[in-house]
Amino acid sequence: MKHLFRKKTLAVLLEEVQGENRLKRILGPVALTSLGVGAIIGTGIFVLIGVAAHDKAGPAVTLSFAIAGLACIFAALCYAEFASMAPVAGSAYTYAYATLGELFAWIIGWDLILEYAVASATVAHGWSHYFQDFIGIFGLGVPELLSRAPLDFDPATGMLTGTGALFDLPAVVITAIVTTVLVKGIRESSGFNTAMVVIKVAIVLLVIVLGAMYVNPANWQPFAPFGYSGFSIFGRTVLGEVGAGGAPVGVLAGAAMIFFAYIGFDSISTHAEEAINPQRDVPIALIASLVICTILYIAVATVITGMVPYDQINIDAPVSNAFKQVGIGWAQFLVSLGAITGITSVLLVMMLSQPRIFLAMARDGLLPKNVFGAIHEKYRTPWKSTILTGVFVSILAAFLPLRLLAELVNIGTLFAFVVVCAAVLIMRKKHPEAHRPFRAPLVPFVPLAGIFTCLLLMFSLPAENWVRLIAWLLIGLCIYFFYGRRHSELRRQQQ
Ligand code: ALA
Repeated sequence: MKHLFRKKTLAVLLEEVQGENRLKRILGPVALTSLGVGAIIGTGIFVLIGVAAHDKAGPAVTLSFAIAGLACIFAALCYAEFASMAPVAGSAYTYAYATLGELFAWIIGWDLILEYAVASATVAHGWSHYFQDFIGIFGLGVPELLSRAPLDFDPATGMLTGTGALFDLPAVVITAIVTTVLVKGIRESSGFNTAMVVIKVAIVLLVIVLGAMYVNPANWQPFAPFGYSGFSIFGRTVLGEVGAGGAPVGVLAGAAMIFFAYIGFDSISTHAEEAINPQRDVPIALIASLVICTILYIAVATVITGMVPYDQINIDAPVSNAFKQVGIGWAQFLVSLGAITGITSVLLVMMLSQPRIFLAMARDGLLPKNVFGAIHEKYRTPWKSTILTGVFVSILAAFLPLRLLAELVNIGTLFAFVVVCAAVLIMRKKHPEAHRPFRAPLVPFVPLAGIFTCLLLMFSLPAENWVRLIAWLLIGLCIYFFYGRRHSELRRQQQ
């Protein structure tokens, strides 16, 4: 039992950073914030806002964005404390290794596959929707059979239904392109990322300013057609209305869905090693990028629900379609193009982060080093795990529907946030003396509020997600007991 909870000490973590080829410290607060915004704005705001407004919250989806943003800010303050204490790659996985021990670290590492790889599949779907919307402007289209996943989620029955298609070809193609780029090692250079961020923020601002001129306030009534709550415990709705298929609906249920839009801010913490002044700038960037995105999201949600009645919001490409519905074709063109660019940058960051987490786990011996720790001789990239990630992402993106994937990503990420918030509390208690250049304010209120709000959102997702999360974690545990436990580096050193 003792071995399951063996921990890496902070001293060991810091020593490891010294030992390895250090990454260059080149990122300042602006570059870090822009990395965060680059990883955040994507499929959530350009695609999922449609489902959330149409099926879950109506115009009150603006409140959903505010609630999800708040939950993320609590979690971000906890991430910031850890990132300042141990500015090493590996993110929540590493933090868990230092505080909760190996078993929990493994669970979180395994869980992060949901956050990065499964999220990539969701993002690839979003890309496909906008790509098809874009070429549709020129009268082109992908053959129906290759235009979407063969399964879809029918909110009316709560069941999976056949779509008649074979698989989502554009999603597979973009995943293959991004994988190739990542294997070749064009790491998203800070300048390239900044260019993408400028484009997508400009498009989001265009949506807000231009869209505001086409708002009809009557569309905001009724404001919360599905109610203000939407909270269920393992399938029994405790607060709020029950939607189709027994899933909760309402503002909280909407927040649980569009939480996806905020995922990615924690990737800033994986860049801590490259920050010029990580102790000061990583916390600033985490909070700044979240606050910027929360404000933009609330504004976009207000405008879109004002332009189009919530029940007529398009589910596939809601933002560009809103401009089509009010008759501004050129804006539809620009928005689609901006969405494609923005979503591509999210996909790049997500698929870049996943192999890095695998690498951290392989170095600790929890995953096979010859696959997940292999670095390409010429390109100096973790090429095998990048390709494996690419294959996994394209299979999911080809066959599974966006909504199902997004919910699974959300529950997995929320779980990781709960663990990070709890780890901050534990660390404060066990190691009050550790050097904390950034301290989360109002402890224990902030971590407890983070745990509470993230759990609230987890319970506002349809109940079957709990089953999927538990099944996923059980598969992970089997792998740990058959592989990781025996090969753990820490175990070897301690013996
Ligand atoms: N937050 C990212 C997106 O919305 C994952 O695409």
